[in-house]
Amino acid sequence: MRKLFTLALALSMVLAVGGMALAQGPSGELEIFSWWAGDEGPALEALITRYVELYPDVTVNNATVTGGSGVNAKAVLKTRMLGGDPPDSFQVHAGQELIGTWVIADRMEDLTFLFEEQGWMDQFPQGLLDLISTDEGIWSVPVNIHRSNVLWYNPAKLAEWGVEVPATWTAFVNETCPALQAKGVIPLALGENWTVNHLWESVALAELGVEGWNGLWDGTTSWTSPEAVAVWDIFGQILACADPDAASLSWQQATDKIVSGEAAFNVMGDWAAGYMVTTLGLTPGEDFGYVPSPGTDGIFMMLSDSFGLPRGAANRDAAIAWLTLLGSAEGQDIFNPLKGSIPANLNGDVTNPDLYNTYLQSAAADWKTNTIVGSLVHGAVAPETFLSNFATVMEIFLATGNAQATANAAQAVALQSGIGA
Ligand code: GAL
Repeated sequence: MRKLFTLALALSMVLAVGGMALAQGPSGELEIFSWWAGDEGPALEALITRYVELYPDVTVNNATVTGGSGVNAKAVLKTRMLGGDPPDSFQVHAGQELIGTWVIADRMEDLTFLFEEQGWMDQFPQGLLDLISTDEGIWSVPVNIHRSNVLWYNPAKLAEWGVEVPATWTAFVNETCPALQAKGVIPLALGENWTVNHLWESVALAELGVEGWNGLWDGTTSWTSPEAVAVWDIFGQILACADPDAASLSWQQATDKIVSGEAAFNVMGDWAAGYMVTTLGLTPGEDFGYVPSPGTDGIFMMLSDSFGLPRGAANRDAAIAWLTLLGSAEGQDIFNPLKGSIPANLNGDVTNPDLYNTYLQSAAADWKTNTIVGSLVHGAVAPETFLSNFATVMEIFLATGNAQATANAAQAVALQSGIGA
């Protein structure tokens, strides 16, 4: 009897200590800042739901600023960071968007301790670790891998129109585009400004190839070389096949045009798969089709969404708990199936068909076997200064259609931003 009593006492002490440990977890408010609002929100919301289960004493403020690719959010973030009012954690692309903006300005905390503590040094691909690191530290936690160079279409509609998926941009411009126009179909869906840049990066990759594309960022490809000028020539011909209403559309609305059959093709990152599956309830491979954008078979243009810990975060403990969850295999398997991306953490359960649909399985297979290059528009290869100046370069092209003048402007902007220096 006494033994039993002692056991019960010991057990209740263990429980009490366990309870105390829980009680000592993070508390207070945690502000997570991103551009995943509205249609883009479900994956982040699911992760936050899990976070609140794990840390019930934390109230999460899911602070979002709408606008695809962070066009608006990044500006708001800049004001807040410079004003000494950082969120506790914020979305930032792995690569130069992170390093060239916030790390060189010494605004981030080094997260090497967390990577070591969590065993992440062996759980993330080396190439990705390189993107988020400098000699001084590791600066963010990647939550996913997205692919930029995907061509989306509606298989039933293509069959109805008797049109094949083009393998090259030349075939698209010379055959696919006129065939569709003759049927009164918009050959290429497109949206607001940044989606034009997004299209451009897939076209440039196709025309320049892996070496040529990488060379733009390390200085071995000149922006004024005949090959780089030729990118603008073909790009102009492609734009002539694009939706005339593009400027007023979000990327989701451009995607909608593929689903409805108003337009035939769309080049967009695979968050479009997340939108079509999670928000619209469509089935990949049946309701929508996908291939690498023309001329980029075997190449995976990657980008990675990550979250960092700014210096001076008001609730550092809660932010570290957040980063711990989103870097874990568990967190990534909650987030990515809804987002349309694959886990960055190699322990993610990506071959599980109950979690990852056929599109995501194919992306995961390509991620393993393809040649990997980085995205310009989504922060991997160039700092934000270059990207914002590139918007002006694009305006010059849209206003003049002059490939050589645009290439000259791009070269000047690259020099100014220290690209390839
Ligand atoms: C990208 C981001 C994706 C998705 C997309 C559209 O920059 O990496 O996760 O949000 O913008 O907004």
